[in-house]
Amino acid sequence: MSFHDPTSYVDLSQGRINHIDFHILVDFESSTLDVEATYQLQEPISGSLYLDSFKIEMNQADVNGRKLEWEFDVSDDVIGKRLHLKGFENDSSFTLTFKTSPEARALQWMNASQTLGGAHPFLFSQCQASNARSVFPCQDTPSVRFTYSAEVEVPAELTAVMAAEQARGPEGSGMFIFNMPQPIPSYLFAIAAAHLEFRELGPRTGIYAEPEIIEAAAWEFAETEKTIIEAEKLLGPYLWGRYDMLVLPPSFPFGGMENPRLTFLTPTAIIGTRGQANLVTHELAHAWTGNLVTNATWQDFWLNEGWTTYAETRITEILEGREVTDLHAVYDEKRTFEIMQRVGMDAPVTCLKIPSGDKDSDSMTSQLAYTKGCFFLKECEYAVGRERFDAFIQKYMKTFQFKSLTTEEFLDFLKAELPEVFEKVDVQTWVYKPGMPEAWHKPTSRLFDEVENVLSDYAEGKLPQKEQVKERVKDWHRYQILTFLQGLPKAVPVEDCKYIEDVLELAKRNDDYFYTYFFVICIGSGYREVMPRIEAFVERIGRMLYIIPIMRALIETDWARDRARPLLERVREKHHPVTVNAMEVLLKKAGL
Ligand code: BES
Ligand code: ZN
Repeated sequence: MSFHDPTSYVDLSQGRINHIDFHILVDFESSTLDVEATYQLQEPISGSLYLDSFKIEMNQADVNGRKLEWEFDVSDDVIGKRLHLKGFENDSSFTLTFKTSPEARALQWMNASQTLGGAHPFLFSQCQASNARSVFPCQDTPSVRFTYSAEVEVPAELTAVMAAEQARGPEGSGMFIFNMPQPIPSYLFAIAAAHLEFRELGPRTGIYAEPEIIEAAAWEFAETEKTIIEAEKLLGPYLWGRYDMLVLPPSFPFGGMENPRLTFLTPTAIIGTRGQANLVTHELAHAWTGNLVTNATWQDFWLNEGWTTYAETRITEILEGREVTDLHAVYDEKRTFEIMQRVGMDAPVTCLKIPSGDKDSDSMTSQLAYTKGCFFLKECEYAVGRERFDAFIQKYMKTFQFKSLTTEEFLDFLKAELPEVFEKVDVQTWVYKPGMPEAWHKPTSRLFDEVENVLSDYAEGKLPQKEQVKERVKDWHRYQILTFLQGLPKAVPVEDCKYIEDVLELAKRNDDYFYTYFFVICIGSGYREVMPRIEAFVERIGRMLYIIPIMRALIETDWARDRARPLLERVREKHHPVTVNAMEVLLKKAGL
């Protein structure tokens, strides 16, 4: 493969890492990992090797009993420092000893008071997209895959987990041993250490969480085994052995992260209704689309997320029915246009294949890759019919398993397997042009029609009887509430804010995402009394999907703009570096 990944310093002509053996000491005192790592190369190399790194404190580099010369010879705020290892002489392995920085971008170090139990600290990583380099020097591009093994030492009362096969060291020793026999890209490296309890859910599924929520978590995600069975029918055998989940503190920046064998999950998905099961369906689907068949660069991110959203929809259709997936599709369509309007209908990020070679991978991992990618794949399915498309999916997974591929390689494969797609679907426009094509199968939904009726009654001022309205919405599906909130004007009379919260019975529903929409409307409407609740919300939750829209609304609203910077400062120490960075970027863009 001869492409350049602008988010990384690596030069693949120098050689490729294919295995790493880690010895990791987790030091909560200094908020650092103390690491010795031995790297195996695919083939012996001579001369230089460039690795990506971010705030790594290097100690020593050894190769075959000799010292290896090294220097950080290029430095950049976004992509970090290039670690230049010099003087290889037909060597196929080397050892680095180093420490991570307390400011490692992938790691959140939480003290005991920030956890549910309050008695033990909590560490977790989030490496996607380009943060693995802050944990260990590596070829931090999704086009390089390696296996790894690890010995991790944590304080004796804590449990260490990794996205890998696990074997316990001697009881009470604080030593944990891991092995990842399938080759993974660096962004799927994951580690956590905390006071955790484990519950078995099924023959190959289980869940880790702090003892205080293990019960609720086990109940919420009890149906995961069923989901795997459906996923296998669509995508082929599950090749990763176990599928466990880890519930993180609320500061986890995402809903979920598809770390192989061990999905990381936000606790905001534990709502007591199993209403966010699609989050697990999504992360599980990544075990194929993403983890098995991986985007070669972040410009091809839609190959990961578009495919996963498509697979999520297909599996959810079996588990929850077509009505639900149609409703979700309407929500996604509206969201797609909302985002495109915000960023500009012809912005590069609205293309499936992101055209420019930006060095900042965060600028390429847009929600549009999910929704537009999924809509495109549905068009392909319509073009050839479900049966042929399903056979194609299976063949795609088999052909590219444990490989990384570009959009172009995908399109070549699609053309070879399903040439009619190219006759019926304007593939070039979908993939390489910004915005949405004119003609496509726009989703419709009966459940959304009900929502629209209430929305238009509201617009016409016909909703005076609270109790009647409550009756109309009380059994609504989660996505009916979401499409309703999505369909409301961004500014309403202040009294209506109270009215909306009340008739939707938001307080009872225990779903923080509703509050994201609600608070954005409150800000737009000038409902100032709600500000302390908004600040508490942004302080409690680090899931970016939930709090970034609120930050954006603050910044865009005259009366609220001054509140944005102090709010960031208030949460800086509480949230993951990834979240703090995203907030910082927003504020800086607005000159705040
Ligand atoms: N892989 C993503 C999370 C991610 C994306 C991390 C880009 C870093 C950079 C994960 O699979 C994801 O998409 N999570 C969603 C789930 C939702 C679509 C069901 C989330 O976190 O909200
Ligand atoms: Zn995803």
